Amino acid sequence: MATVAWIGLGVMGYPMAGHMARAGHEVTVYNRTRAKAERWVSEYGGRLAETPAAAAEGADAVFVCVGDDNDLRSVILGKAGAFEGMKEGAVLVDHTTASADVARELAAAAKERGLGFIDAPVSGGQAGAENGVLTVMCGGEPETFQRIRPLLEPYARMVRLMGPVGSGQLTKMVNQICIAGLIQALAEGVHFAKRAGLDIDAVFDVISKGAAQSWQMENRYRTMADGKFDFGFAVDWARKDFAICLAEARRNGARLPITALVDQFYAQIQAMGGGRWDTSSLIALLECPDALNPESAPADERGES
Ligand SMILES: NC(=O)c1ccc[n+]([C@@H]2O[C@H](COP(=O)([O-])OP(=O)(O)OC[C@H]3O[C@@H](n4cnc5c(N)ncnc54)[C@H](OP(=O)(O)O)[C@@H]3O)[C@@H](O)[C@H]2O)c1
Repeated sequence: MATVAWIGLGVMGYPMAGHMARAGHEVTVYNRTRAKAERWVSEYGGRLAETPAAAAEGADAVFVCVGDDNDLRSVILGKAGAFEGMKEGAVLVDHTTASADVARELAAAAKERGLGFIDAPVSGGQAGAENGVLTVMCGGEPETFQRIRPLLEPYARMVRLMGPVGSGQLTKMVNQICIAGLIQALAEGVHFAKRAGLDIDAVFDVISKGAAQSWQMENRYRTMADGKFDFGFAVDWARKDFAICLAEARRNGARLPITALVDQFYAQIQAMGGGRWDTSSLIALLECPDALNPESAPADERGES
């Protein structure tokens, strides 16, 4: 059993760290909002630290799952960041979806300090984290990867080293590009089925056995139909991911027209106040067009008489 630190107990990190503790590892957690760390310790045991550096002290491996590149820099490189507390030879495993550039930057900083670094973004959503069946895409040195690989078992169904540092993040970008248009297509399908007066459950029960099947279809058609978005993968995070994909595409020359378009749809969701809604909320743009264009609402709803 290993001694590990876990930094970031959000939608994903909270259940992932929980699986780690249930597997018998000694886990010390740090979360910016202390109340979440207190709740985690009361649920799973383990210890709570006041800073990332304090959590990392004595750990064989430090796991991080925060929001974006700048969050990562602050919890790893910042004052009282994880690198300050890590012992020589320890490995930092980053589960945040971030840029390949920041992975390379952190790996270089780790090397200077005699530490290991693996970028390890995940796919599988909130349900995948809660049920311990995530896909983990890793980048880094093969020997470092082999050392931390067994530690991922409690919450992963699929783990693979994709290449040198940054390769995990590049693979996750492909994942996000593939999902972007798919969610919009699913939103249009659910919206159309409702307008057509079909039995929604019957439609998706049938077509999810055919060529249109997807994880999004199986896990999101019902909540889309019900207009429920208060869970899951936040629109703010999706826009962060698309910004990373589009920046990388400008560099490597890839053309991503649908990703760019769907990114703009999500900007509209943010403008509706849905930054923390699940990404399946794209259907809200189809079902509530008046929310997008106040001019199109009836005059009395605009406060005019
Ligand atoms: N949710 C999904 O379905 C999903 C799926 C795959 C990948 N991801 C990726 O996984 C990462 C985490 O996603 P999530 O849904 O778990 O996000 P979340 O619920 O918003 O949680 C973010 C976590 O990071 C912490 N954090 C953010 N900025 C910080 C900072 N500057 N300093 C210290 N702590 C900071 C937050 O602390 P507080 O509690 O104080 O806010 C929270 O613990 C993101 O990169 C996301 O893109 C998410």
